[in-house]
Amino acid sequence: MGRSLPGGLRGWLTAVILIAVVPLAALLLFEAGGRYRHNTEQARRQTLQVARFAALDLERVVVSAAHSLAALAQVGVVRNRSDAACNRWLAAAITADPRYANLGVAERDGRVSCSALPLRRPVNVADRRYFREAVRTGRFAIGEYQIGRITGKPTLNVALPLRDAAGGVQAVLFAALDLARLQEVAARAALPAGSVILVIDANGTILVRHPDPEGLTGRTLRDGHLLAAAGANSAELAGPDGVVRVYGFERLPGGPQEAAFVAVGIPRDPLLAQLRRDLAGRLGVAVAVVLAALLAAWTLADRFILRGVNRLIAAADRLASGESAARTDLRHDAGEIGRVAAALDRMAEAVEQREAALRRERQRVARQVEQLAALRQIDLAIIETHDLATTLDTVADQVTSLLSVDATDILLLHQATQTLRYAAGKGFRPDEGQRPAVRLSEGVSGRPVMESHTVLVPDLASLPDPMRPHPIGAERFVTYIGVPLIARGQVRGVLEVFHRRPLQPDADWMAFLETLAGQTAIAIDNAVLFSDLQRSHQELALAYDSTLEGWSRALDLRDEQTEGHTLRVTNQVLELARAVGIPQAELVHVRRGALLHDIGKIGIPDSILRKPGPLTEAEWEVMRRHPVYAYELLSPIEFLRPALDIPYCHHEKWDGTGYPRGLRGEQIPLAARVFAVIDVYDALTSDRPYRAAWPEDKAVAYIREQAGKHFDPAVVEAFLRMREGHREMKRALPA
Ligand code: C2E
Ligand code: SIN
Ligand code: SIN
Ligand code: FE
Repeated sequence: MGRSLPGGLRGWLTAVILIAVVPLAALLLFEAGGRYRHNTEQARRQTLQVARFAALDLERVVVSAAHSLAALAQVGVVRNRSDAACNRWLAAAITADPRYANLGVAERDGRVSCSALPLRRPVNVADRRYFREAVRTGRFAIGEYQIGRITGKPTLNVALPLRDAAGGVQAVLFAALDLARLQEVAARAALPAGSVILVIDANGTILVRHPDPEGLTGRTLRDGHLLAAAGANSAELAGPDGVVRVYGFERLPGGPQEAAFVAVGIPRDPLLAQLRRDLAGRLGVAVAVVLAALLAAWTLADRFILRGVNRLIAAADRLASGESAARTDLRHDAGEIGRVAAALDRMAEAVEQREAALRRERQRVARQVEQLAALRQIDLAIIETHDLATTLDTVADQVTSLLSVDATDILLLHQATQTLRYAAGKGFRPDEGQRPAVRLSEGVSGRPVMESHTVLVPDLASLPDPMRPHPIGAERFVTYIGVPLIARGQVRGVLEVFHRRPLQPDADWMAFLETLAGQTAIAIDNAVLFSDLQRSHQELALAYDSTLEGWSRALDLRDEQTEGHTLRVTNQVLELARAVGIPQAELVHVRRGALLHDIGKIGIPDSILRKPGPLTEAEWEVMRRHPVYAYELLSPIEFLRPALDIPYCHHEKWDGTGYPRGLRGEQIPLAARVFAVIDVYDALTSDRPYRAAWPEDKAVAYIREQAGKHFDPAVVEAFLRMREGHREMKRALPA
């Protein structure tokens, strides 16, 4: 390049430099600003999506904790807090489910009486929100975000009150949900280096931070929580580590007072670094373009070369305005223009690919959010309906629409006959009619069950006829996928999807189908567990009731009553109870109470109970204790607690002169007011050791006379009507 340039050409070159370089540099700077805004916007959207994902995930854990607690509340050793057995049971439950950092029971005073993790010292949770709310509302409650006193970990605690038979809250069953789960969420979201995911409580204190190399847990995020509490969903803030990040916020489950947030932050610096790299690259290209222009002018300053340069500049312009598909359309030959064009085209291609990758990633996260929302809906169906058929219908609906298949069904395994029976379906022709049960060995539906894994048949027509699933006949399905429903190691059935065209499911799609199947299996398992529990409860109740009848016969004998006396009185009491409007559901307790009304007389010595004459004042004092004895005897038996009204209150009187507590009027439970009338009438018309039986008329007159004194007048009226009804019935019957 030792040659000197001709004077005319020098001027021309200066013009080229001015014309090409100045607008290009301005354009690059302008474009850099736009790209930076674009990247920040993308980061903001990603943080929001991941935050939403994390919050939904946690909400889902809360929902499934609600039904785990409900199931645990049915377990005897937990209800009764039998120390070691209760601890062992809860410990087994947290081992089975790592989402729980702890499970425990707190008594009414807040003292923890049972805990999966061992207690090193007494722990009281009376001040915790989950505890106070569960006691106050008598319902499932969500607490504040906290550091556990037993776990020492950041947890969200939820609680379910344990009720006694009378409906009172006797204790609170709680679960501590481990917030370390957010780490998994962060890992799945594949955030850029330097990103963080946090849980911030209402005070702005960091409860969880992932990752946390600087140990910032416990510190306060400057202003971030205020913005989040004010409803902002994103912000650019300096974190406590000094790094400026773009944050997205999402409120976590719980009422408005708990206001805790998950925050996801992506550092701004890498965005700037990226921008600097982009800018450096483009400036390099710009310089190369100018040099090429100079070279071209220098060596072959003809129109052909100028055309090439113009094309290069045009392509650079289009790229700058965000058209990543722009290319120079020049041949990538060995000449200077060709090499510059090649560089520009390579750069354009890289930008285009990166944008496509970002778009795919965004779609993937959006799909995950949608799937999680569906899972949550299924969880809600499981706990809200208590009804397996409805839950399975929800599952079939969700699978069909979310996975875009033509039809879905759920078959349940009937163990005794080793057959699969249709339980729910969606997308089949209505004229399919009743489907027969299929034997496991018969069709393709049995294979997922017998092999315990997913079976995919890409083309049903390839199966021999007897292997085809039942609905194939008229429906022209092509693809079949069967997933076994397995919970706690037990196969419960199969979830099947059908499609009329070939399906090429990817790994994400299959994973979601299998997650839905897992959830379905849990629903079925719960339902089976629940109906087993109900059945054994019913069996126990029957066994108890025949024991009670045995007791009441023994009591009659000792009291020198006639055989079956108590049983007869009991039947009359039930009739009168119905007549005064005691609800059907309470009659079982009325019946048990009536059978046991005088069980307290067990505590009265024979010398008093069987005394032929009137009692002395001292003897009366003993006799008047029999309702209290009944209370003491029966109240520890949970099953009989709702039946206590009659044994405890049957000697109270309407005017307040009865015993043991001297209750008056409607303070006396209605069942006891009903019972008193029947009991006195029956006592008066029976022989007693202390007197002979009265005639019926005299007894009726006495009852009528005592209305408003001993008895509730309304009950007396119903009693008299009932007797009248009996008399009319007797008259109407032929003698
Ligand atoms: P019980 O024999 O089953 O009597 C139940 C209730 O029927 C009595 O409750 C009382 O309200 C009424 N009642 C029974 N007999 C008569 C009666 O002759 N006249 C009147 N006006 N009411 C009658 P109460 O009085 O609280 O007695 C509770 C239980 O104490 C009785 O059960 C019985 O076991 C015992 N008792 C009551 N009075 C005597 C007595 O004079 N001698 C003895 N040995 N026991 C008595
Ligand atoms: C608490 O609420 O701190 C007690 C619960 C626990 O740490 O497991
Ligand atoms: C319930 O929700 O009350 C118990 C049933 C279950 O565990 O899903
Ligand atoms: Fe009595």
